[in-house]
Amino acid sequence: MILVGVSGGVAAYKSCELVRLLVKAGREVQVVMTPAAERFVGPTTFSALSRRPALTEQSADVFPHLEASREAMLFCIAPAGANTIARLAHGEAPNVLTQSALAFTGPLLVAPAMNPRMWAAPVTQENVRALLARGVETIGPESGEMAEGEQGAGRMSEPDEIAGRIEARLATLGSLAGRRVLVTAGGTREPLDAVRYLGNRSSGRMGVAVADEAARRGADVTLILAAATASPSAPMRTLRAETAEQLRAATLEQADGADVIVMAAAVADYRPAQPVAGKRVKDAAAWTIELEATADVLAELGAGRREGQVLIGFAAEYGEGAVERARAKLKRKGADLIVMNDISRSDIGFDSSLNEIVLVSSKGEQLVSRRSKQACAGAILDTLGNQTARAAVEQRTTV
Ligand SMILES: Cc1cc2nc3c(=O)[nH]c(=O)nc-3n(C[C@H](O)[C@H](O)[C@H](O)COP(=O)(O)O)c2cc1C
Repeated sequence: MILVGVSGGVAAYKSCELVRLLVKAGREVQVVMTPAAERFVGPTTFSALSRRPALTEQSADVFPHLEASREAMLFCIAPAGANTIARLAHGEAPNVLTQSALAFTGPLLVAPAMNPRMWAAPVTQENVRALLARGVETIGPESGEMAEGEQGAGRMSEPDEIAGRIEARLATLGSLAGRRVLVTAGGTREPLDAVRYLGNRSSGRMGVAVADEAARRGADVTLILAAATASPSAPMRTLRAETAEQLRAATLEQADGADVIVMAAAVADYRPAQPVAGKRVKDAAAWTIELEATADVLAELGAGRREGQVLIGFAAEYGEGAVERARAKLKRKGADLIVMNDISRSDIGFDSSLNEIVLVSSKGEQLVSRRSKQACAGAILDTLGNQTARAAVEQRTTV
């Protein structure tokens, strides 16, 4: 079943067509409306089109919206007005639509629709970025003439475009059912003493996005999480690891039971050779630290992996020659795929919710142009066999 959320805006009339298209395609649809949406289209219209009562504040039962959000495979909010987007971004849940969205753990798609100045408002853009960072997908908005006569970006995408995106997303769900996926994410911390450490700028977002996406595609996911600001939103087994050595031990222990291993963690290449016991007391003298190399977990996994196990590594490369270095890494580590990030760019990567990656495999290279980390995660997992969502990915093969 698909949940279609309708918030208060003129574009609510287009949602009638969206519901009709989904039902015509054989989908079970449950509509959930905000009180403001009822000022634009009556629930009876949606009930008739979806052939089941639309959920509103006046629904006869008390919790049908929460039951629906547990059963639904996908939740699409169209139109998603500025107010509903703000509520989603901040976890506010004053109505049946926002309550069911808050309780929903599957893929959430939102199709924004609002006045161009409301859309361009920094706070709206900030709210949208917060949603993207949490794995919510946006559809549109398009540019054009608005009902109020203004021109600009803010028109809701057309119903057939939204229905197409819903179908493409549904096709990915269950594509990893029965596969055991092990993901590492975040940055390791190597102690200098009991208080200080050597770390890196990894937020863990990219790896967590891969783990979330794999879980949504039906995989049995184990996440090994080093220091990270991100945390998974889909239910999964999560183990913690602080240092490179702890991450190595946990990964090797879990590796045998995994069909796919995604090494997205930023594992330290070097660690202090002799961490100070206790806290080093501050004095005027310089502190010289000798670093020693850590074990190469990806290479170890590559050397020891069993038949049929898929190994995916990440390469944070800087500037020119990045793809060539990623290709060399692919061979050196015995991996099936290297996901290459260009960390010389400030508009993607470490502290951003967006990323642009190049997938390097023995088949060639595939550029996944700038998009949310969740969408990048989808492209990475598509390489495991699902062809559906590839249409959106530019491909350039060099080998
Ligand atoms: C005629 C009219 C059209 C509106 N169209 C939109 C719209 O397209 N997008 C939007 O964000 N808000 C629009 N609003 C404002 C919302 O209806 C209002 O913010 C409401 O509180 C939204 O509540 P909801 O998010 O719970 O549905 C419109 C209001 C009126 C009176």
